[in-house]
Amino acid sequence: MESHLEKQNGDVLQKSFKEMISTLPKENRWGFLEDYYQYQGFWISPSFLQGALSAQQQFQAQPTDVILCSSLRTGTAWLKSLTFATITRTLYNDSPTPLLSKLPHDVVPFMEFKLAQFSTNRHLGIPLLATHLPYSFLPRSIIDSGCKIIYICRDPKDTFVSLYHFIARHCKSQNAQPIQLDEAFELFYEGVSPYGPYWDHVLGYWKASLEHPDKLMFLKYEELVEDTVLYLKKTAEFMGYPFSSEEQQQGVPENIVQLCSFDNLSGLEVNKTGKHCRGQGNWEMENNIFFRKGKVGDWKNYLTTEMAQRLDQRTLQKLSGSGLSL
Ligand code: A3P
Repeated sequence: MESHLEKQNGDVLQKSFKEMISTLPKENRWGFLEDYYQYQGFWISPSFLQGALSAQQQFQAQPTDVILCSSLRTGTAWLKSLTFATITRTLYNDSPTPLLSKLPHDVVPFMEFKLAQFSTNRHLGIPLLATHLPYSFLPRSIIDSGCKIIYICRDPKDTFVSLYHFIARHCKSQNAQPIQLDEAFELFYEGVSPYGPYWDHVLGYWKASLEHPDKLMFLKYEELVEDTVLYLKKTAEFMGYPFSSEEQQQGVPENIVQLCSFDNLSGLEVNKTGKHCRGQGNWEMENNIFFRKGKVGDWKNYLTTEMAQRLDQRTLQKLSGSGLSL
């Protein structure tokens, strides 16, 4: 629980963050319930930016932490479930894993939504946390503590299509008119999207992974789909929870992959009918919004050849010289 002093200091901080945010460039062509603000090159909602600033001031990473980082719609929930199931694989022998009764986002929380404010909110037994923040926004203690970071990214075309559906569904659930796909495409292309420009988000982590390969693991959604068991094993090793040869013989990695598969998670009652709350409670969503198709290449069903070529061209241009291809 937070103390009285913590609460007072917290209130003063939040007020100064709000004042600062109100001076930033803003925009709302996506039709969100609130404006988005541009801070240090990235577009972000005011409540999440407040959480980010709070995290920068207060969040204390532990050297044993594993921070799962991603932009929106790139496989965050999947990565959360795979890493949680891996780290807790011996904890839930006699009782069911929380992954069967909770949305992955409620099993592994986002740092900027809940935990930044009070370190007492953390479940210290489980060293996993997630964030959508760009690399340059990460609290200093994450870098200084030397904890592990895993980043997951995805083909920008599929990321865009997934993001578009996510936002359109959310708007509809709030009785708001969703933006047209071609308008949203132009915004994404220009870099105006939640936590965007998307490429800059990816590049921040990519460059850091080249500098600190032992601390930052860089994953692609498509690779994870292609050979989930292989990448799960690599991830387990990276986190410091490798599968023993006995566990491998018993098929433990395969069981985790099966538990966390799209079909299994999306078919659970909690993920079909439950609800999820974010930020200061102003983002309530149905859990099933987080599970759409889970396929590679679904962009082909939504983008014209011209749109796809333009986005590919943009990606080539943005990633040029980085050594990364998407
Ligand atoms: P689609 O919209 O293309 O289906 P995030 O968790 O970062 O918001 O990413 C959401 C995307 O991951 C969605 O993609 C969603 O369907 C997909 N997804 C969710 N759970 C998954 C799982 N267990 N396996 C594979 N993909 C999953």
